[in-house]
Amino acid sequence: MKNILILSASPRKKGNSDILCRQFMKGAQEAGHKTELISLYDKNTEFCHACYACFRTGRCVIKDDMEEILDKMQKADVIVVATPTYFYAMNGKLKTVIDRFLPRWQELGGHEVYLIITGHDGKAGLKLVDEELTKIFGGLGNEIKGRIWGERVWQKGEVERTKAMEEAYQAGLGA
Ligand SMILES: Cc1cc2nc3c(=O)[nH]c(=O)nc-3n(C[C@H](O)[C@H](O)[C@H](O)COP(=O)(O)O)c2cc1C
Repeated sequence: MKNILILSASPRKKGNSDILCRQFMKGAQEAGHKTELISLYDKNTEFCHACYACFRTGRCVIKDDMEEILDKMQKADVIVVATPTYFYAMNGKLKTVIDRFLPRWQELGGHEVYLIITGHDGKAGLKLVDEELTKIFGGLGNEIKGRIWGERVWQKGEVERTKAMEEAYQAGLGA
């Protein structure tokens, strides 16, 4: 049994990223894994102040929900990161959370990571998001085990008609 943490960056409940996260979760649960889905918009995560206090103390001066998120990431065997594409990039909520990795970036390696990327464009238009996230999570010392592309989806729920549904389910099952 693996401990699987799913971080979903979309503000839209029942949006395309959220739906794919739940498909992954369904597969993972059927495979007997323990899962937790965190919707990052439900969490209070301020911007990094770049004060570098964490370089001296190992802790962030900002008291919000980041410590809880980082604790859960550290304990997870598998981390699933899901984001909609906003202007060819990951969305701002996810980037804000990633910037706050700074105090503990050396503790965030050794996980299996899956990426879920959605957008109205085809894969070619979403690939910068993959490149960024692969660079960031790979650079932290994680293995990118899979990618699920929710391509050509815009309105909430459109992803339900695509092959990404089965791909997300299968990825969870095989995690
Ligand atoms: C601010 C904003 C910017 C967007 N920019 C892009 C983009 O550059 N490329 C793209 O393919 N889709 C873009 N989209 C569309 C979303 O990525 C798409 O609707 C996605 O399915 C949303 O995911 P969600 O349903 O999980 O919220 C944008 C949407 C918003 C709100």
